[in-house]
Amino acid sequence: LLVDKGNHRHFMAKEIYEQPETISHTLSHYVDMGAEKVAIRETLPFDFADLSRLTMSACGTAYYAGAIAKYWFERYARLPVDIDVASEFRYREPPLEKGGLSLFISQSGETADTLAALRYCTGQGQHVASLVNTLESTIARESGVVFPILCGPEIGVASTKALTAQLTALASLAIAAGRARGVVSAEQETELVRAMTALPSAVSAALAAEAQIMDISKRLSKAKDVLYLGRGAMFPVAMEGALKLKEISYIHAEGYAAGELKHGPIALVDEAMPVIVVAPSDELVDKTLSNMQEVAARGGNIILITDPEGARTVGHGVADIIEIPRVHSFVAPILATIPVQLLAYHTAVFMGTDVDQPRNLAKSVTVE
Ligand code: AGP
Repeated sequence: LLVDKGNHRHFMAKEIYEQPETISHTLSHYVDMGAEKVAIRETLPFDFADLSRLTMSACGTAYYAGAIAKYWFERYARLPVDIDVASEFRYREPPLEKGGLSLFISQSGETADTLAALRYCTGQGQHVASLVNTLESTIARESGVVFPILCGPEIGVASTKALTAQLTALASLAIAAGRARGVVSAEQETELVRAMTALPSAVSAALAAEAQIMDISKRLSKAKDVLYLGRGAMFPVAMEGALKLKEISYIHAEGYAAGELKHGPIALVDEAMPVIVVAPSDELVDKTLSNMQEVAARGGNIILITDPEGARTVGHGVADIIEIPRVHSFVAPILATIPVQLLAYHTAVFMGTDVDQPRNLAKSVTVE
């Protein structure tokens, strides 16, 4: 495999910086740019219009991709979604309707738990689809339909460009499902496709916050615990941010739904625990503002990830605001993953850890 780091210190940095191109590449597979419509090239052995449920399973970051996509399929296609970590899915022996659709997300296509979940669904007479990066993998081979994510080899153990590629493909599938189910109109489809095609340049702009993020990361590297908060589709982004930080900096972090704060974790908040709030401006941002006030009232240090509009409306008194460009709320969770990747990366660099090969972790987990 001939992949090098280019001018970057780590594969992870290279992969973070590649994302404007990798997202464009994934888009060019799933979108007809001229017509501004989603175009699924794979032959589907099922019709989205006939489904009563979509079942998804995956592990780690791939699971968070699915957790974000659940918001899209339910909102834009009115298709109910069940999603589980693949390592738990089989144990509840979920009853699955014959002819239903199960979707598995895996960068490597070799994750043992995801493969076991897939085999369970095959046994239940489900249509089995997978979203993979490695097309010659076991999961791809055992799937009825394979959706490629096309981001090129990902070497860093911490997944970055695979996540944004998975999300780009999942967003396209959600639009296709919405169209098939008569939920997304032709005009709305154009609007959503335009939102997606605006992503590569928005990602480049988000990457430009690196110097500021390095400064914040220096302080984060002194923390013992970090809390990430998000609401709606930003909740899985918060969990992804926490996972990334744990994996490569070894700092304990948790991602929480912002509204759950007062049901427990607020007890942890003090001056020593940074609270990273992922809240681009949308219809939920005002509710997250009140959670931020609860944190501030207890002396908590907030790092707010938002867009210029959000900074104006909810950013008062917040010392650290990481700005991302304003994009359509549909694609905002994809963009919001960029600063959380950079925060984890630079914190780990300050800690001096082995960023590309963190202790105790393997790129692909082939045992249950
Ligand atoms: C992500 O940063 C992790 N290293 C890990 O959670 C990973 O996403 C998970 O193991 C799933 O891998 P897969 O996509 O290859 O199935």
